[in-house]
Amino acid sequence: MFFLKNFRICSHIMEGGGGNKRRNFQRGGELEKQMVNVMKFSINGIDHIIDGDEFDPRMSLAQYIREVAGLTGTKISCNEGGCGACTVSVRKNRDAPARSVNSCLTPVLLCDGWIITTIEGLGNKDTGYHPYQTKLASEGGSQCGYCSPGMVMQLHSWLQEHSATSELEIDNILDGNICRCTGYRPILDAFKSFASDKCLPDIEELKICKKDGKQCSSNGRCSSPLQTSFNGPKSNFQWLIPASLSDLLDILSSLPMGTKYRIISGNTGTGVYKNDGPYNVYINIAKVSELHELSSNSQVIIGGGVTITDAMGFLGMTGDPVFEGVAHHLKKIASYGIRNQGSLAGNLMMKHAHPEFPSDVFLCLETVGAKVEIAHADGSKTETSLTEFLNLSMEYGVIVSVKFPILEKTSMKKDLNSLWFQSKAMTQSSQWKFKSYKIMPRSSNAHAVVNAGFLVKVDVADNFKILERPRIVFGGINKNFVHAEATETFLINRNMNDHAMFLEAMAVLAEELIPEDDPILHSALYRKQLSLCLLYKFYIFVLGSAASSEVQTGCEELERGLSSGQQDWVTDESQWPVSKPVEKYEAKVQCSGEAEYVNDIPTVRGELHAAYVLTTRGNCSIASVDTNAALELPGVLSYVDANDIPGLNDWTGGSTPETIFCTSRSEYAGQAVGLMVALSRDIAVEAAKLVVIYYSNENVVTTDIAKSMTNPENVLQISDPVGYGDVDFALASSDVVLSGRFTMGSQYHYYLETQVCIVKPTEDGFDIQVPTQFITKLAVVVSKALKVPVNSVNVEVKRIGGGYGGKIYLPNGIAAAASVAAKKLNQPIRLWLPLEDNMRMLGKRNPYVFDYKIGFDKDRKITAVESSIFCDSGWNFNRIDAMSAVNNGQNCYHIPALKYTPFGVKTHTPANTPTRAPGSTNGHAMMEYIMEHAAAELKIDPLELKQNNLMNVGSPVLPPPALLETVNPISSMINQLKTSSDYTNRISEAQIFNQSNKWKKRGLSLVPIRYPHFINGGGIKFHCLISVFANDGTISVAHSGIEMGQGLNTKVQQVVAKELGVEMNLIKIKPAISNINPNGFVTGGSWGSELSCEAAIKACSILNTNLAPIRESLGTSATWEDIISEANMKNIDLCARYMICPENDGLGNYDIWGAVVTEVEVDILTGEMFVVRADIIEDAGLSVSPQVDVGQLEGAFIMGLGLWTSEQLKYHPTTGELLTKNTWEYKPPAAKDIPQDFRVNMIQSLNKTRNSFSGKATGEPPMLLSISVLFALRDAINQSRREAGLEGWWPLDGPATIEKIHQSTGISPDMFTF
Ligand SMILES: Cc1cc2nc3c(=O)[nH]c(=O)nc-3n(C[C@H](O)[C@H](O)[C@H](O)COP(=O)(O)OP(=O)(O)OC[C@H]3O[C@@H](n4cnc5c(N)ncnc54)[C@H](O)[C@@H]3O)c2cc1C
Ligand code: FES
Ligand code: FES
Repeated sequence: MFFLKNFRICSHIMEGGGGNKRRNFQRGGELEKQMVNVMKFSINGIDHIIDGDEFDPRMSLAQYIREVAGLTGTKISCNEGGCGACTVSVRKNRDAPARSVNSCLTPVLLCDGWIITTIEGLGNKDTGYHPYQTKLASEGGSQCGYCSPGMVMQLHSWLQEHSATSELEIDNILDGNICRCTGYRPILDAFKSFASDKCLPDIEELKICKKDGKQCSSNGRCSSPLQTSFNGPKSNFQWLIPASLSDLLDILSSLPMGTKYRIISGNTGTGVYKNDGPYNVYINIAKVSELHELSSNSQVIIGGGVTITDAMGFLGMTGDPVFEGVAHHLKKIASYGIRNQGSLAGNLMMKHAHPEFPSDVFLCLETVGAKVEIAHADGSKTETSLTEFLNLSMEYGVIVSVKFPILEKTSMKKDLNSLWFQSKAMTQSSQWKFKSYKIMPRSSNAHAVVNAGFLVKVDVADNFKILERPRIVFGGINKNFVHAEATETFLINRNMNDHAMFLEAMAVLAEELIPEDDPILHSALYRKQLSLCLLYKFYIFVLGSAASSEVQTGCEELERGLSSGQQDWVTDESQWPVSKPVEKYEAKVQCSGEAEYVNDIPTVRGELHAAYVLTTRGNCSIASVDTNAALELPGVLSYVDANDIPGLNDWTGGSTPETIFCTSRSEYAGQAVGLMVALSRDIAVEAAKLVVIYYSNENVVTTDIAKSMTNPENVLQISDPVGYGDVDFALASSDVVLSGRFTMGSQYHYYLETQVCIVKPTEDGFDIQVPTQFITKLAVVVSKALKVPVNSVNVEVKRIGGGYGGKIYLPNGIAAAASVAAKKLNQPIRLWLPLEDNMRMLGKRNPYVFDYKIGFDKDRKITAVESSIFCDSGWNFNRIDAMSAVNNGQNCYHIPALKYTPFGVKTHTPANTPTRAPGSTNGHAMMEYIMEHAAAELKIDPLELKQNNLMNVGSPVLPPPALLETVNPISSMINQLKTSSDYTNRISEAQIFNQSNKWKKRGLSLVPIRYPHFINGGGIKFHCLISVFANDGTISVAHSGIEMGQGLNTKVQQVVAKELGVEMNLIKIKPAISNINPNGFVTGGSWGSELSCEAAIKACSILNTNLAPIRESLGTSATWEDIISEANMKNIDLCARYMICPENDGLGNYDIWGAVVTEVEVDILTGEMFVVRADIIEDAGLSVSPQVDVGQLEGAFIMGLGLWTSEQLKYHPTTGELLTKNTWEYKPPAAKDIPQDFRVNMIQSLNKTRNSFSGKATGEPPMLLSISVLFALRDAINQSRREAGLEGWWPLDGPATIEKIHQSTGISPDMFTF
């Protein structure tokens, strides 16, 4: 029995008190606990005093904020530090700066003493909004709004600490906040307006505290303490809080042998290595002051518990270029929120536990030769190099500090001969040169593909002679590789300007670097070549001006400056509010966190939580499912599987049933087998992981479309060839015929609100809250699964936290599963998918292969095009969007003869599903790719070839026998764009740039689109019900369109206001509900807004007809309220409803035209790139809501940017499991990936639509334009290939990842000149 008298213990919480030495602890003993059950922190000025007894250390601050404090403005999306949705602002004590923290990774038990501000602390509709919220809203920075609270809190945190900040600094603060909707530009614009080099916000608006003169973190309210009361699960753990290092060591020495313990510093490591643990002892080291010290007296020493942010700040102030270099590198770690919370020691320990982790902290510190001081539980201390530390047992050890070396001051060599010839002061002769590199798949918050650090002491005057053993460290090679030892040895005393010697050094490095092959990593060959390139980069860096001018920039990182944007649109004031750039209807409540999403709906009595049990391999049989261990977990209530489905086990109604729960076969890894139902979500998720599935008949798994196509059994021709003319004859008589293959990959939707559903059994049937784009279908699927009539299934959708097509069909399966569980248990069920389940289980964008042929005559006019269009539909043929690819596969070109044959291809992956601009993106990309290919073969500028082949009135268009009825505006749009984008000059400038920079290349591309917009047929119909309240004339609108960020509600509000002649603020838009507007069609395909507006206009027209006699009788001076009151008195129906059906209402299909110029810059030595500028021009007609539509254009283009560059899906070669299943591995664009200069011009061409307001769809067409990024990259890479002596066409498939770019550049070591 051991006593920890001076420790406060909260049943599970124990706090150190005196720091007195107690060496009487022995490992294996038992800790006696004394109950002191409180910890205290404040949220938005309200004190929370919580009983530690009630909280599991795994409960995150985000969970606490949402579930206990009831503040649902803070969102949880990835739950692993990768998206920033959970960002809150934290001061760890009254004197500490306010900083952003990812609350999903922060245990609530860590928050003792913290002052926390959530989005609710800034402003709301009752007390007034904060300027950050209003600005983000007014700039169009919130579409679906799921990211918005996190964005605002990131800005708020930054400005709390940095009251004077530049636009450029603000441009960088969103390195960890993902937005899939907006394309970031409006968010950055909104936020940059608060820079001190811009203008300062009104000080009144910032709610400055009268007491302390600082900005108020609680919305101007000072509040009194609140004792929270809650009942959480008690669990078997200890949470220990030592007050000193000696206390900490005492605790460690007292732990019984084999105790699974975790030192809690920032706890961010759990975002990367989620499966470490479970633990039964947690040691919070926040109060161990020895671990948080900073010193630079005789030596720079940084405590192990110091955050990366503080370490960066400290090193940056040392004035030592080497240490400043380290600080520069540390800034590339993760994101602000993680760096603010994560510590040096925590990072090093992750490397210790997982040697393959490409730790940037380890890399930098080992490169400069830092040492770690380790204290052991027995009281001893070790000081060791980082390499040795990796091999040291760290059981019961603590990293106390990191000690930086005292780099012997370099001195000027007094060389009389040299001095004789110098009139000026000489530069230092022997110098330390440090440089580190981190190559990432996107601009920020990504782990290194390869990272490298170099430190040499060189005598510049003596031909850059390396004076001591250099230090060369690589990460990302294999788990054992640290130092390039042979290369280090080789380089001692070598002259760095000796090129022959450099090539030898490269050879030595090439021999000793053996990257590990791993399907999730970039290829071993790329990583090896990349490492060699980094050595070359370092050489150029050291040689500086001694290297030739054209190679010098090779050592630099890509220099992306301050971002900017420009937006132009057409408006017609006579139509206002239609065509007025109004703020999005819900923008403010989204930016303040007041907007309620499904998962924000408070739990109801008896509500249970469910989690999926998913298969872990595909193409096999399921022998058995063992749920015993899972069912024994406390809090688990039931396992629900196919046996519990009363009706149909199918959630699609496609030609192949897609099971709600599979039974005997696993078609793909990630298929749903059942649900574990438990008292909490955490327990359900944990239980689901305990289920063991036994497989048999394990067949070969194929996840790659091209591979799968080689087996004809996997291929299905889905229709006769589509086309016109005699293609065979036309090709045979062409002057030039060329053929090729183009492939493009998949894409995860990346809605921040993962799939979720709440099903509540009621007296009436089932009430379902679910973010679906397709209410009608979902209700039918659930009714069939439960074997109940459709009118028993009440579906309601208020808003969706991002859909992009991923919530058209997929929620059906989720809702059906949750409904089966709700029916079985007769209790409300909440099924909310963790990100990894969401990614593993659900279908994504269909990948494609195109085998094409094109013919030209001697005038370079197209004679014919033929293509076999293969669409990977996943494990079945249900959702093949190849017909859409066909219809878009002609783009804007005159093609006299055409034949496209659409096929579906099966792979062992989840059935793919519509993803923004499904099929159309692919078909358009194919045609543009063919034109690029043809231009290369014909040795002609691609733009010239395109302009030479534009379609015109009477040209055949798909589907046959249609002909183009309108003038093709592309030619004039291209001319306008060329002028506005300064295209010709920029091509010349890029050429000059490319000539003077061997290792940085720029490329441009101009791509046009014709997007045939089909709204007529196929069952498309939308409804709108408008109710006017007699008492005050206010109006409610309930339509069947789904608001998912695209601004549908805003547009409806605008048209209703115009049609009824009322102010917009009289109108409220209500949720979409199945029993109010049944039988509506899917909101998708860019038609939802347009047709909801049309339905609203018609409903208004009915109302106006009803009101006409009243208006006439009251005269023109009558107000709206007078008219309504009078109409009610006269018993006139103040409610009108209309169903719009384009087929019946005479609405026709139309074309949307546009073009883009994109310019990129590529780092040829690494494959990294950035978009220098993009100029989009699109015919949006008379946009109903220009700010909303600009947002659609920008967002779609940036989603496309991800498709063509950083977003890549990888599967396990044997099991078919998705490897890129989380934010650590899957990388959509971040804020600094968008074009540095991003311009959008929405024009109104003469090609009018047949709808009531002449507005055109905007949600999907710009996605197609994004292929210009791929071609701009090609152009840039071509410059390098030419220098490498490579001419002619070469294939570049999508996505052009950094690896693919690098591997296409054609570079070889003989080009590595000085
Ligand atoms: C989204 C995301 C992106 C990231 N990107 C990068 C990246 O690009 N590059 C990179 O290098 N890192 C990256 N990281 C890792 C990040 O730097 C670490 O998570 C962080 O530094 C860990 O510090 P912590 O204080 O939170 O450690 P914790 O999570 O608290 O602890 C981690 C481990 O260290 C142990 N530990 C903590 N302190 C001590 C101590 N003083 N002595 C002994 N053991 C201790 C703990 O027991 C635990 O095992 C990323 C992390 C996330 C979540
Ligand atoms: S939810 Fe916390 S970072 Fe994504
Ligand atoms: S508005 Fe940013 S994710 Fe939707």
